[in-house]
Amino acid sequence: MSTRTTGTYETTIVAGESVNAFLPAPLPPSDPPLSLAGPLGEAVHQAERALAKLDVAGALVPSLDGFLYAFVRKEAVLSSQIEGTQASLVDLLSFEATTDEAPSDDVEEVCNYVEALTWARAQLADPAAPPLSMRLLNGAHARLMAGVRGADKHPGEVRRSQNWIGGPRPSLAAHVPPPPNRLPELLGTFERSVHDDMGLPAIVRAGLLHVQFESLHPYLDGNGRVGRLLIALFLEHERVLTQPLLYLSVYFMRHRQEYYRRLNLVRLDGDWEGWLAYFLDGVTTTAEEAVATARDLSTTVAEDRARLLAAEDVSVAAVRLFELLPKHPVVTVSTVVRLLGVAKPTAGRAVDALVDAGVLVETTGKKRDRWFAYERYLERLRVDTDLGVRRERQT
Ligand SMILES: Nc1ncnc2c1ncn2[C@@H]1O[C@H](COP(=O)(O)OP(=O)(O)OP(=O)(O)O)[C@@H](O)[C@H]1O
Ligand SMILES: [Mg+2]
Repeated sequence: MSTRTTGTYETTIVAGESVNAFLPAPLPPSDPPLSLAGPLGEAVHQAERALAKLDVAGALVPSLDGFLYAFVRKEAVLSSQIEGTQASLVDLLSFEATTDEAPSDDVEEVCNYVEALTWARAQLADPAAPPLSMRLLNGAHARLMAGVRGADKHPGEVRRSQNWIGGPRPSLAAHVPPPPNRLPELLGTFERSVHDDMGLPAIVRAGLLHVQFESLHPYLDGNGRVGRLLIALFLEHERVLTQPLLYLSVYFMRHRQEYYRRLNLVRLDGDWEGWLAYFLDGVTTTAEEAVATARDLSTTVAEDRARLLAAEDVSVAAVRLFELLPKHPVVTVSTVVRLLGVAKPTAGRAVDALVDAGVLVETTGKKRDRWFAYERYLERLRVDTDLGVRRERQT
């Protein structure tokens, strides 16, 4: 482990206490510079190979759209769970399948994450929109914090007050980020480092930028979620992946204590190498798991399609509905009416046919307002997201 200075401290008063706020030094790490020799260099190559495989797997998935759709939602559920939000993947998909119900606060928060990510990706793809910048991240933050819970968190705005992380009082905090009056300058430097190649591989820079962003903690809340979005956006921006298929929340969630410990050790000991070893392991593991998920989901869809087509009297509507399921794994008859543009009886028969074929499963046990889920597909997707709890829907 190296020991280097990673920034300076400035005394500041917050909540009546005098504390030392941390001002991180600009990236890249220096004194000594980052060394990617030895095992760490091998970890970089391993991560890059895993990402290249993931990119190929993405290109081979038959319905990439549906797959991406599901992946983004899985990430939204997980990234929001780190914050403590309890919505499950099925809660989110069920909510999205209907339009006549107000979301619970938890579901709203997850929907906001989907919205923030989708919006930011569209901005990145639009040559007329601002590049990957604080302006873009502020826009994502505004969407993330929209609605009930985020209203007092200054959506879309860099904080104007001193904050602290971990601990009931500033003097007991794990980390005191920079005072607000230093943020414009520090964030300007941060923004420039996003576009500086630093002579380092993109995947390494993604790891450095995430920590730097968390150290700066620019917002009153949502810094973890925006910092995780930043990783996905940066990889797409750097064209490491042609599709946004890598989301690290599962890994951060599984190794949460280690995640916080590694963030702290960067600041305290300048242990960027230790952080990168953790981060790169996360990238490799997550990319390999995503390849396996992509393969399993494709197999599931292919098998079910074959079974459906082999069934007697299969209708065109049923086949059309089946092809829409990867993007709409939870439906009601009304959703099907809307999706297929058919009358209710036709929609009902298409749903029945998919139930008979063992594709859709009725999940409510009710006679009316029934929900149908593409269970086999969801089961695979749900790994790690639900913590095994499926709560009763409130209707
Ligand atoms: N000791 C630390 N040093 C630097 N950053 C930290 C430290 N502990 C936690 N963090 C970062 O702060 C984030 C939490 O900040 P904040 O509550 O603003 O974000 P969030 O998106 O609301 O929450 P969460 O990340 O828990 O979902 C963590 O996800 C982590 O990235
Ligand atoms: Mg928070």
